[in-house]
Amino acid sequence: MKNRKIKIFSNQEKLAKYFSEILIKKISKNTSNYNLSIALAGGSTPKKIFKYMADNYSGKINWEKTNFFFGDERCVPPNDAESNFKMVDDILFSPLQIPTNNIFRVKGENDPANEAKNYSNVIKKNVRLKKEVPRFDIVMLGIGEDGHTASIFPNQIELFHSKNICEVATHPESGQKRISLTGTVISNAKLIVFIATGKNKSKIVSELLNENKDKSNNYPASLVSSKKGKLVWLLDTESASLLY
Ligand code: 6PG
Repeated sequence: MKNRKIKIFSNQEKLAKYFSEILIKKISKNTSNYNLSIALAGGSTPKKIFKYMADNYSGKINWEKTNFFFGDERCVPPNDAESNFKMVDDILFSPLQIPTNNIFRVKGENDPANEAKNYSNVIKKNVRLKKEVPRFDIVMLGIGEDGHTASIFPNQIELFHSKNICEVATHPESGQKRISLTGTVISNAKLIVFIATGKNKSKIVSELLNENKDKSNNYPASLVSSKKGKLVWLLDTESASLLY
């Protein structure tokens, strides 16, 4: 796959440092009057990255030129333990005192179908468009062991191809409703960064990156391709252990 880079780190701290430096470099190079737009990943993998940023960049960055969005969100209130917003707010936004005007959260407490439309409008209004499609500066993505990414699951892989900006998805096991960016927006980003760490991700990472086509095509994550942008995989030695 063209435009794809794979970087493997000996530990998660080094991966976190590398990701943080990508973001900081983009913020410092952004001399336009637009704010940098980043869609954050949820789940547990990004926690170390956000903690690294909070520990190392407090008071050093003008965050007013960065707009934070979410690649997906669970349909729960913002103070719910399941909320991706709560996770990022606890670890990153509050410690770094990111201005609330720069945080665009999915209102997980709202009706999912209404919120998918609402958040799509929020993105359309606040993210630069390219050919009428929002083009995030960075989209950060995790990967599930089943090959899902954002909240596009294998049993709803058609959502990836939706022309909408966001769709309502359903977690296949818990039935939890989610709001997710679609592949239309994800693949339009200037930079897509997949992050995967830990032994439990080694199998899915190998199936996606060793490109055994017969398997990987069924995974939503395998559909992510960068149109005229860049796609980077940040792995640790554990998640990369089955790559050849
Ligand atoms: C979410 C995520 C989801 C996550 C993967 C990996 O809301 O859960 O956005 O796509 O990135 O499920 O989750 P872990 O990082 O917890 O393994």
